[in-house]
Amino acid sequence: MLYLQKAARTDGRDVYEMLQRIPDTPFLDASYQMAWEDFPNWVAHRVEMADGVGLPEGWVPSTTFWLMDDSVPVALSCLRHRLTDALREGGGSIGYAVDATKRKMGYGKALLELMIQEARRMGITEELLVTIHPDNIPSRRVAEANGGVLRRETAERVYYWFA
Ligand SMILES: CC(C)(COP(=O)(O)OP(=O)(O)OC[C@H]1O[C@@H](n2cnc3c(N)ncnc32)[C@H](O)[C@@H]1OP(=O)(O)O)[C@@H](O)C(=O)NCCC(=O)NCCS
Repeated sequence: MLYLQKAARTDGRDVYEMLQRIPDTPFLDASYQMAWEDFPNWVAHRVEMADGVGLPEGWVPSTTFWLMDDSVPVALSCLRHRLTDALREGGGSIGYAVDATKRKMGYGKALLELMIQEARRMGITEELLVTIHPDNIPSRRVAEANGGVLRRETAERVYYWFA
């Protein structure tokens, strides 16, 4: 069964090891190739970010989730609680990445579907945005499969909106 699990200070080796299999993470702070010793502080910071604690200037709270498949972490995602002008330009509302050894198995599509549901459950009512590099076909398919409406295209990004 697939479900989302919020990042927590109790996260352990299974999450850490999944992160080491995601070289192309959407997180701006490094999770790939981080030392195991640094993981507790890293994950604690992700937890604080959800509560708006310790955010760099101009950042909005964001909640980190792991996609779990029968208690095995297989993907990560972050949900920004609201959009800013900067996020509207790049970054959007939701970022996601799947364990590189587990791609093309449907996890990406399922993850975005669960994240959109979760955003609504959390009371986020504004339209959600996913920004994608134009050449990132897998991510575009994930967005399109979830009803994303392509409203803008630039050389750097395509912009999919979710009502
Ligand atoms: C984008 C990403 C999340 C997709 O995850 P995934 O679990 O492989 O996605 P799915 O299995 O649900 O596949 C989605 C679609 O993309 C297709 N796809 C997946 N990998 C592909 C590839 N390398 N080349 C072409 N198509 C691919 C799948 O066949 C599927 O197509 P379909 O619509 O015909 O069924 C994953 O590739 C990833 O983590 N990429 C790195 C991080 C990233 O780019 N994140 C998005 C930032 S906006």
